[in-house]
Amino acid sequence: MTLQLPDFPWDSLAAAKARAQAHPDGIVDLSVGTPVDPTPPLLQDALRAAADAPGYPQTWGTPALREAVSGWFARRRGASGVDPDGVLPTVGSKELVAWLPTLLGLGPGDQVAFPAVAYPTYDVGARIARAEPRPMTSLVGLGPGAAPKLLWLNTPSNPTGQVLGVEHLKKVVDWARERGVVVASDECYAELDWRDDADGPTTPSVLDDRVTGGDHRGLLAVYSLSKQSNLAGYRAAFLAGDPALVGQLLEVRKHAGMIVPYPVQRVLETAVGDDQHVAAQKTTYARRRSVLLAALRESGWRIDHSEAGLYLWATRGEPARATVDALAEQGILVAPGDFYGPTGAQHVRIALTATDERIEAAAQRLRSA
Ligand SMILES: Cc1ncc(COP(=O)(O)O)c(C=O)c1O
Repeated sequence: MTLQLPDFPWDSLAAAKARAQAHPDGIVDLSVGTPVDPTPPLLQDALRAAADAPGYPQTWGTPALREAVSGWFARRRGASGVDPDGVLPTVGSKELVAWLPTLLGLGPGDQVAFPAVAYPTYDVGARIARAEPRPMTSLVGLGPGAAPKLLWLNTPSNPTGQVLGVEHLKKVVDWARERGVVVASDECYAELDWRDDADGPTTPSVLDDRVTGGDHRGLLAVYSLSKQSNLAGYRAAFLAGDPALVGQLLEVRKHAGMIVPYPVQRVLETAVGDDQHVAAQKTTYARRRSVLLAALRESGWRIDHSEAGLYLWATRGEPARATVDALAEQGILVAPGDFYGPTGAQHVRIALTATDERIEAAAQRLRSA
């Protein structure tokens, strides 16, 4: 029985990419959110120091790693009581997003809900489990019928950069608890919050004490170090929350061999224990963001949300593919908003993940258009 998976969206950008590559001063590729700065030396050293790893690693992660993640939630995310037993490293978080419905035992007849404009893998995960994908604009939009078994949140959002506040998260968690719905909150841009008035050092977590009252039942926070620590190539991520749920996932993952390599576990432990490299990377992205924002605004673009994360959610009030084509003529490649759901049809997602030199080039091209 074949799976009903969507076409891989990036394939549809091939023509625009070829056009952008033909620019005499080269392409500025702002389509994919892949980090371009070096992996911090501290983390490269941690990898080297753990290179001797002849035995099998622990699927659950080393106790030291799980303690370090718990400490990070307390220090950076306002979540004081994360039980190290409820922490589990994952092989990047894309695999977890794609497999979570299956690992939770969901299948035909079950619904998986996620934001209407979203990272496409929530939908893919529902399909892999043969469950029903339910894009939603709000909880009310789900209607009075059967509740989903799993509800995905993504804060800050990819692609829009929208942040969910503590009150909003609390409302969703209360709603889900009344109905026995598991809430998984994908939060990998939380350290890249650009608001001056943010109510904490990072974007609020679903595990924030103000949201949960200290009770993590039914809740999972999904986190990746790909972006904040330039570790996308290491596949370094984790989830944390309800120890009972995590135990259930661990059981299946042990049988399935879904294990984070030991050297990467050591890198994860080091990375969550060091705030300095994250702050430095944030400063770099803040600079690139302000260069691009200024150029886009001066050229008459409207930027929506984008208060956190690695993207600008931008529109010229025309179909996204027309914007993509116009920018490709200028040698700039961006992602059309329709990749993320039909409501993104008039937006493009512009990534901040390019070198300072390429970001400057993009700004100049935008201004001279
Ligand atoms: C919202 C969101 N979740 C998860 C991921 C996956 O991150 P990784 O698999 O690198 O950990 C991404 C990557 O772009 C993302 O934007």
